[in-house]
Amino acid sequence: MKLKYSIIISLVCSLVFSQNKDFVPGKQWKDNDGVHINAHGGGMLFIDGTYYWYGEYKTAGRAGNTALEGISCYTSKDLYNWHNEGIVLRVEENPASEIAKGCIMERPKVVFNKKTAKYVMWFHLELKGQGYNAASAAVAVSDTPNGPFKFKKSYRPNKGVWPINFKDEFKTASIDESKLKSWTPEWLTAVKNGMLIRRDFEKGQMSRDMTVYVDDNEKAYLIHSSEDNLTLHISELTADYLDFTQKWTTVAPAGHNEAPAVFKQDGVYYMITSGCTGWDPNEARSFKSKSIWGPWQSLGNPCIGKDAELTFYSQSTYIFPVQGKKDQFIFMADRWKPESPIEGSYVWLPITIRNGKPVLKWLEKWDLNAFREKR
Ligand code: DGJ
Repeated sequence: MKLKYSIIISLVCSLVFSQNKDFVPGKQWKDNDGVHINAHGGGMLFIDGTYYWYGEYKTAGRAGNTALEGISCYTSKDLYNWHNEGIVLRVEENPASEIAKGCIMERPKVVFNKKTAKYVMWFHLELKGQGYNAASAAVAVSDTPNGPFKFKKSYRPNKGVWPINFKDEFKTASIDESKLKSWTPEWLTAVKNGMLIRRDFEKGQMSRDMTVYVDDNEKAYLIHSSEDNLTLHISELTADYLDFTQKWTTVAPAGHNEAPAVFKQDGVYYMITSGCTGWDPNEARSFKSKSIWGPWQSLGNPCIGKDAELTFYSQSTYIFPVQGKKDQFIFMADRWKPESPIEGSYVWLPITIRNGKPVLKWLEKWDLNAFREKR
């Protein structure tokens, strides 16, 4: 009887609330049950006619990272209306677990591996009680896109291997770096010359803000903020997407980038990132390259118009193609609310390439027809 009522209530809710016809960046976005979507720092996967939006699931009444409960999943056919599939990877009660309640899970990205037919989730994991010191990449796996995902392991990538673009002379320090004062030009030069890569060589390179990019040839890469967030690393994943091949490179050494998001159009890779100001918004950056391995050319702030210098009060998290539409990419970003993370909202905007650069323009409200307009 109870089940019958809950099905009826859910059906009524779907009828009443399933009415989103456009994207309204930065505002409350209700799911099919009339509840604000809870999938922060998210990523998107498209499988068999359905979009899967994965993100950090926060609980009400708690601030900052204490609000984290796990990774959620929402599904949609049209990108406007979303069904809550629930938490697909939950923090664990067992205090000995790497994903024990109190850990920090950020920026989950799920990809499908065609060879193994598994759904592979990568996310940034910080261990309970250790702040942001673990700086690890974590992986979980599922047989179905809506989970449940099984946590496999977390670790720092590229232990004991130099990046492919590393000069031989960088393998040992040429000056006494221990006395350098942070943020001086000499210190920044030392970072560019591999000081922090050498520091982390034995224990593995840091992996904080991250995304996963799967290329046309099915090769996948973890793109992660490393070296105390000073330098982005691109690390190739193994064919099953569960490990690293140990082939890796650096992007924008000492450039201080977070929140990487990547897409490819007409054979060119584009990346949008943010600066590093915690939960506060800052000016986005953009890059492009003809190869995933670089060289990545810096293109500056992709945002134009009012509040462009603050990425419209948001921070990038992912970029995905609209299915069946050529050159239509959606930029996903978070408008964080650390005092009540569950209320954080989402800024989705269409990306266009103008004069070889990605451009993001604020729209109060838009739908997929906006791609047809000349903006
Ligand atoms: C900015 C990052 O992009 C977020 O994912 C989160 O780690 C916050 N910093 C924490 O301050």
